[in-house]
Amino acid sequence: MQNIKCVIAAGGLGTRLQNFRNNNSTKILFEVLNVPMINRQIQQLNSWGFENFVIITNPEYSALIREAVTKAFSNFNIEFAIQDEPKGISHALQQAENFVKNEKLFFVLGDNFFENNPLEGFNLNQFHSGAFIFTKMVDNPEEFGVAQMDQDGNVISIEEKPEMPKSNDAVVGAYMFDESVFEKISILQPSARGEYEITDLCNLYVNEKNCKNSSIDGWWIDAGTPERIIELEDKLA
Ligand code: DAU
Repeated sequence: MQNIKCVIAAGGLGTRLQNFRNNNSTKILFEVLNVPMINRQIQQLNSWGFENFVIITNPEYSALIREAVTKAFSNFNIEFAIQDEPKGISHALQQAENFVKNEKLFFVLGDNFFENNPLEGFNLNQFHSGAFIFTKMVDNPEEFGVAQMDQDGNVISIEEKPEMPKSNDAVVGAYMFDESVFEKISILQPSARGEYEITDLCNLYVNEKNCKNSSIDGWWIDAGTPERIIELEDKLA
């Protein structure tokens, strides 16, 4: 997949993993079965065919992340960008702007792991404009972005961790965006919790009636809490 740039959000603080197994580092360096999470993520993405990556890190752990990644993957094309403050997932993606040139963009949240490649069966050559999100039916949608679709798979709304979810379709941390993505990020406003939300970015595409969804098969784990790390290790073992 030479003509697709894969951007990985690996900033943020990972506060929910602090002190779990004596962890006092960033989530993305947390070892999942003895491999740092960021390296597991790159392995996963490479098994789906990706070779060109931009990794967004926070300033404090940038050097450590770079060291862990370059040691393990010296043969891949990996670039790094720093997000000065954890101002939200769309803000993290914005830091990749100078690295993405006339390419399609696949954006992945570093802590999201999948049994199957969400892009399996997705015709990348037919993806020219808009956004594409991926969803999974869950029992606890209020913990995620939640999407509502019409019968043709067009997304008609996405809400971030709603108290009263309109569906059980959680938006997983993998997104395809067209070239207008950085222009769209530049007009986003911070949410009530002060973050540039990924859901608000997707909703700009929804407003243009240009956001499609595909529901994924197999397990999906957002490995952001101790319980979900244990679940991920069970699946990978
Ligand atoms: O896992 C899917 C969910 O991920 C989506 O359903 C939600 O819509 C989306 O907001 C996100 O929710 P989380 O609460 O799981 O996001 P979290 O803060 O854990 O961040 C996800 C990844 O993005 C994580 O690897 C750290 C990175 N990140 C996060 C923030 C806030 C950054 O790189 N920079 C940031 O500023």
